[in-house]
Amino acid sequence: MTTQPTPVVLDVDTGVDDACALLLAALHPALDLRAVSCVGGNACVDDVVRNTLLVLETAGRPDVPVARGAERPLLEAPVNARHVHGDDGMADLGWGPAATTADRRHAVELLRDVCREAAESERPVTLVPLAPLTNIALLLRTYPDAAQGISEIVFMGGAANVGNATASAEFNVFHDPEAAAVTLDAAADLGIPVTMYGLDVFYGPVVAAEVVDELLAVGGRGPAELGGRLIAFQSKRFGRDASTIGDAGAVCAVVDRAGLKTETLPLRVELAGTWSRGRTIVDRRGWSGDLAHDPHGEAPVRIEVALEVDGPRYAALWADTLLGRLGER
Ligand code: RIB
Ligand code: CA
Repeated sequence: MTTQPTPVVLDVDTGVDDACALLLAALHPALDLRAVSCVGGNACVDDVVRNTLLVLETAGRPDVPVARGAERPLLEAPVNARHVHGDDGMADLGWGPAATTADRRHAVELLRDVCREAAESERPVTLVPLAPLTNIALLLRTYPDAAQGISEIVFMGGAANVGNATASAEFNVFHDPEAAAVTLDAAADLGIPVTMYGLDVFYGPVVAAEVVDELLAVGGRGPAELGGRLIAFQSKRFGRDASTIGDAGAVCAVVDRAGLKTETLPLRVELAGTWSRGRTIVDRRGWSGDLAHDPHGEAPVRIEVALEVDGPRYAALWADTLLGRLGER
């Protein structure tokens, strides 16, 4: 019996690695990319929309609706990551613009409609946020019935151990800590299972220079060449031979969950700390006695936290998909 592809929806701040994730989601046969919502983060939301439309058109998927969402975080002042992703937010490739245009709906309305349709058709979507969680928090608080169309949230964000935007916090959560806290609280309230693909695994799947050369050699300004240019941009920017597929690892986890090791752990988002604001505080204590004497008590939110990843497995999944070589290994 052939299994149907998994319906997925991505929320992005495209972004070099968001673009890598979009390519995988658009091309892998086990996924049915239903929609993409955009939020300000790595770049302003209008650049994110422009970049997202271009990636989907390059992947031959102009059919996938793309909508413009939140311009800024719920409370935090907006920042960007152009120092990482380039001035245009996507490696300054000089490609485009896309011929396609964004959906007329706000991203939250597109997400609402796609989730409601998913519930009606009894094919719930896996929601894959790869950016600050502003759109997702707004969706779940404004239209909680959307949860009936969501089978799981697999988000790139947070960390059990390290930070990148600050010593303590990961960029997506740091950018909008309130949205992260609201999303996790609402998902718990609404019974949506959550998996956190955080920095503890984010840097694991890396693409080597020789694979970049293979991707670039395909040429034709298609998805393989685009993927190769994106990885090459990162390698040059960070002075490395190999670079992570970043957000695309979270999409790999939807395709191939066995490549990820997770634990169900309590988690809180720090909203008040001077130096720790935006930190995801993952509770890995092993003795109940500590908890019994903890004035804070156990965090009300328990999610699947990714702690280990088979990096080569996910890097190969991503590259083979773009090269059209799935199943040849
Ligand atoms: O911390 C990494 C995350 O921040 C990724 O989603 C990257 O695209 C940026 O948004
Ligand atoms: Ca991102």
